[in-house]
Amino acid sequence: MKKNKKFETKAIRTQVERSSQKEHSVPIFATSSFVFDNAEQARAIFAEEIEGNIYSRYSNPNNDEFIEKLCLMEETEQGISTSSGMAAIFLSLTSHLRSGDHIVASRSLFGSTHQLLTSILPRWGITHTYVDIHDNNAWEEAIMPQTKLLFTETPSNPGLDLCDLSFIGTLARNYNCLFVVDNCFATPYLQNPVKYGAHLICHSATKFIDGQGRTLGGAVLGPADIIKEIYFMAKQTGPSLSPFNAWILSKSLETLAIRMEKHCSNASELASYLVKSKDVKTVKYPFLPSHPQVELARQQMSLGGALVTFELEGGIESCNKFLDNIKLLSLTSNLGDTRTTLTHPATTTHSKLTPEEREAVGITDGLIRISVGLEHIDDIVDDIRQAIEKSK
Ligand SMILES: Cc1ncc(COP(=O)(O)O)c(C=O)c1O
Repeated sequence: MKKNKKFETKAIRTQVERSSQKEHSVPIFATSSFVFDNAEQARAIFAEEIEGNIYSRYSNPNNDEFIEKLCLMEETEQGISTSSGMAAIFLSLTSHLRSGDHIVASRSLFGSTHQLLTSILPRWGITHTYVDIHDNNAWEEAIMPQTKLLFTETPSNPGLDLCDLSFIGTLARNYNCLFVVDNCFATPYLQNPVKYGAHLICHSATKFIDGQGRTLGGAVLGPADIIKEIYFMAKQTGPSLSPFNAWILSKSLETLAIRMEKHCSNASELASYLVKSKDVKTVKYPFLPSHPQVELARQQMSLGGALVTFELEGGIESCNKFLDNIKLLSLTSNLGDTRTTLTHPATTTHSKLTPEEREAVGITDGLIRISVGLEHIDDIVDDIRQAIEKSK
């Protein structure tokens, strides 16, 4: 696929070569291994003298198609599909690091990424320092001679705070560190971190990439020389995405642009509604004029995203009543679905953090996170309005 084609065209027209059956839609290559024409070809493919599929833990046409599309969308050279977003984050944090190395990461991270940094990587001698995502000076001050990697998630989950990608990209270049960005909330349709100096992009494809709450999946994308080592790790450790899930995710990418447009317009309308509600204490949405980093959001994101957070005047008690009175929308910890989903981060996704850790990233007991779906906005607002009424 030509790089100069538009986003939607790349998403739809990048596909595995048509087989002798002349199918229009790409089939699922449900096969664990692939055959060789002869002994010499088998030897040459294993020796990496020629390209070819060997075994689906190494490569598979459905996975290759999914990754080729994502690389075109993120403007990266190469990538690897993974069984989940966490597998992608794990590979990107471990493949290039050794015992004694150090990571600087933004404090407001997805719960499992936080567990990885605080409870798992230290077992192998990899340490980290947390900084406030928006404090550029703190990022620079935290860099030590043994710092090898800078990691962020922007907008953050569930704080919706932003990392100044251009500033951190420059730091990464100046201090010779890998800069890794979890781009799950923005998706490649709203934000391309490599334009600002990021080396590796991680995705939880489970979220907006699938977009319909059906499957887990992930991806790591970046320059060929950096992906090479990550591919080596993935091949040996086996966090492969199944061809069936890769097929689903590649099909889903065909509609990412149109879905994100609608997710964002619904989220923006809901945020404006909540701002006007007298029972709501705070509302956060990257493109709201009241967001402390709205200018940065408008610079590095093309739209404000699908996530909105708010706090009710009545604190935790009202918050529980609100959630118990939701009728149409879903109470679930996932996000990025056609269905609007609501979460109470303090007692679910971020319950493993200590109260102090939650406070530091703005997760109050009364905070509600909404991933705004694709239902009609009037029905989304109606359900939220009636639940707020009953929360008093
Ligand atoms: C920002 C972010 N990154 C990574 C993940 C992990 O993705 P997965 O559940 O696909 O492993 C999540 C999951 O919610 C997430 O919200």
